[in-house]
Amino acid sequence: MEQKKTIVLITGVGREEGIGFGLAKAMAAKNFEVIITARSLHDAEELSKKISTSNDGVVAEALDITQEESVKNISEFIASRYGRLDVLINNAGGHLDYMIQPLDTDFETTKQAFETNLFGTWRVIKHMHPLLKKSEHPRVVNISSGAGSFTHQVFGMAVHPALLTSYGLSKLALNGLTVQIARQLKADKILVNALNPGFVATAEGMENMGARSVADSVDGIIWAATLPDDGPTGQFFEDGKLLNW
Ligand SMILES: NC(=O)c1ccc[n+]([C@@H]2O[C@H](COP(=O)([O-])OP(=O)(O)OC[C@H]3O[C@@H](n4cnc5c(N)ncnc54)[C@H](OP(=O)(O)O)[C@@H]3O)[C@@H](O)[C@H]2O)c1
Repeated sequence: MEQKKTIVLITGVGREEGIGFGLAKAMAAKNFEVIITARSLHDAEELSKKISTSNDGVVAEALDITQEESVKNISEFIASRYGRLDVLINNAGGHLDYMIQPLDTDFETTKQAFETNLFGTWRVIKHMHPLLKKSEHPRVVNISSGAGSFTHQVFGMAVHPALLTSYGLSKLALNGLTVQIARQLKADKILVNALNPGFVATAEGMENMGARSVADSVDGIIWAATLPDDGPTGQFFEDGKLLNW
């Protein structure tokens, strides 16, 4: 009998160098059914062609997580094609304001960071909730950052000299949202965790600054996406280890 495939939605798979694409490749190789999404359908389609699998389990769709209509469309697509969603990986994010002091920030940057990293992720979870409820082992992974913690030894906001102001605050809020949603969805047996992928080389020159490869960062994400039913929820992890924040 053919085994039921795990249906995974990954947001923010718009760049070949990005974590989302590395993750999609790794999950497709493990025989997950992967829906890769990007703001541009063309980008998602081009990237999906670069994932070679022996199965046809890679699907490309457009998704802008800041747009209600776009999120509604992808939930309708998943509902009609699969009838459920097993794993949601909220990877889309950005708006890194490097070295900007809080009183020097323009609020547009801050708003954009929150629109994507917090409200966008929140919106996607909200729309996917009915589909996740139909899964036997539903999991949500919110890709956060060490910059969203106070004490992370490298990027914590009380530690890191670069002050990733709006970005850090939006990821801090995402960690808080993870706790709240995890508590709400406990009754539905949906495990929701935040995850720091570490410092990952997603742009040229980052390896020279000590970043690790995308391939090395994805195992921890897959771990959180495939937790056992009695696994943790509402926590913040890096490579399977609990992070204080
Ligand atoms: N790289 C690191 O060291 C690191 C460390 C900690 C956390 N993270 C987190 O890891 C995640 C992936 O980052 P990355 O480093 O792989 O960078 P990335 O390649 O820039 O990935 C972010 C992706 O999010 C997409 N995106 C932005 N706004 C979106 C929206 N409104 N709707 C849908 N997609 C949207 C971008 O799409 P476009 O291609 O269309 O711009 C981009 O493809 C992010 O959440 C980031 O904050 C990264």
